[in-house]
Amino acid sequence: MAKTIFITGASSGIGKAAAILFSKQGWNVAATMRNPQHENELQQYPTIKVYALDVTQTDSVTQAVEQALADWQHIDVLLNNAGYGLAGPLETASEEKVMDQFNTNMFGVMRTIKALLPNFRAIGGGTIINITSIGGLVGLPFNSIYHATKFGVDGLSESLNYELRPFNIRVKVVAPGGVITDFATRSLQRTMDGASVYDAALEKVFAAFGTNAANYSTADQIAEVIYQAATDDTDQIRYVAGQDAQALYGAWKSMSNEEFFAMVNQRFGLS
Ligand SMILES: NC(=O)c1ccc[n+]([C@@H]2O[C@H](COP(=O)([O-])OP(=O)(O)OC[C@H]3O[C@@H](n4cnc5c(N)ncnc54)[C@H](OP(=O)(O)O)[C@@H]3O)[C@@H](O)[C@H]2O)c1
Repeated sequence: MAKTIFITGASSGIGKAAAILFSKQGWNVAATMRNPQHENELQQYPTIKVYALDVTQTDSVTQAVEQALADWQHIDVLLNNAGYGLAGPLETASEEKVMDQFNTNMFGVMRTIKALLPNFRAIGGGTIINITSIGGLVGLPFNSIYHATKFGVDGLSESLNYELRPFNIRVKVVAPGGVITDFATRSLQRTMDGASVYDAALEKVFAAFGTNAANYSTADQIAEVIYQAATDDTDQIRYVAGQDAQALYGAWKSMSNEEFFAMVNQRFGLS
């Protein structure tokens, strides 16, 4: 029997690439997104069905899960991919922007997991894959709120493995580095509305991030890592995805915190 994957944020980027890859591999795909009325590519794949889902709305999550289960009867893998970036100094972030960032990137993940756990228990197991970021393992400048959400999802995932193991449910994390998607354009918000005392440092940091783009992965490459996580039948929890992410994580693991802090400061032209 074909397996089924349920994906959030499948309208573009990594989520859409994963939907297409899993479909090509013979899976049924519940491709969920905020605005399915704008989608006209995924429906061309016979094993992909598109559903409306906004991860910030519990009712929307519940309805999409019910519809997908009515269509496919079982869901074997949940891919929590929906998310966006919030960059800039913490001090300039409104409470609303901070709350919105957590509501999507972290509480959205909790909502879908809670909605799908009864299905996983009923079918005797399953796999939950949460897309975090290298910024869920390593802190970089002027991304504190985004990193907090992704570190949060990393911790959530590691801990959940203990309570879900008796039900044969695994929780995995795919942590990409830079990926060429809409993330750095329409999916990136800034904390600041105007000038601030951080502007000189910010300019250096954003310029340095810009020069790294040559090392970014494609969404298709990250989808391959997601497919591996979904099918390798191992207890591996973290999949650091992309050469840039692996290099940075390797450096972080090989250095003391103080050495790493000095290296990042130097690389970004900070103090
Ligand atoms: N690209 C990178 O460099 C990078 C690096 C590390 C981690 N990531 C992570 O990868 C994931 C996917 O991002 P991407 O790179 O593929 O960027 P993307 O192309 O901008 O995709 C982001 C997706 O999230 C969806 N989304 C945002 N808020 C949502 C909500 N409230 N409910 C449902 N869906 C929502 C977007 O839907 P709409 O079309 O409705 O806006 C879109 O489908 C994110 O979690 C991101 O943090 C990306």
